[in-house]
Amino acid sequence: MIREYRCNFTYVEIDWSGLRAAATEVARRGYAPYSGLQVGAAGRTADGRVVLGCNVENASYGLTLCAECGLVCALHAGGGGTLAAVSVVAADGAPLLPCGRCRQLLLETAGPDLLIDTDSGPRALAELLPGAFTKHDLETRRSRDV
Ligand code: THU
Repeated sequence: MIREYRCNFTYVEIDWSGLRAAATEVARRGYAPYSGLQVGAAGRTADGRVVLGCNVENASYGLTLCAECGLVCALHAGGGGTLAAVSVVAADGAPLLPCGRCRQLLLETAGPDLLIDTDSGPRALAELLPGAFTKHDLETRRSRDV
């Protein structure tokens, strides 16, 4: 299935099944001995790159890194860019919705128009994280000389 993402008045074609396949492959590299849930994330940049991440758990459970954290790190490490679409899946290829923390992380990285793969088709991040706190709130609400 190919769906389009509008980016700076140009349209980017997203190969959703290819993106989900890339996420499934990387999910199988997830390190998840505690939960037993391997997760993979694949992102498509507006300039055509695919960036990947997998979850990494830890004996100190709270240190777990979600697959989306790896993806965002890979995006920055690869020089950055505009993320247009993300697919997050378990190792069986079934899509997962990003957790709340990762929705916030993706929002800062890619903005509200980022498309997220779901069972029922792509959904905009704005729909999955309405009323979010952003860096603009930080700038406008920061205490000054109080
Ligand atoms: N997990 C992710 O990688 N991404 C999410 O958005 C949801 C949860 C991982 C973290 C943990 O390793 C496992 O799934 C179970 O929560």
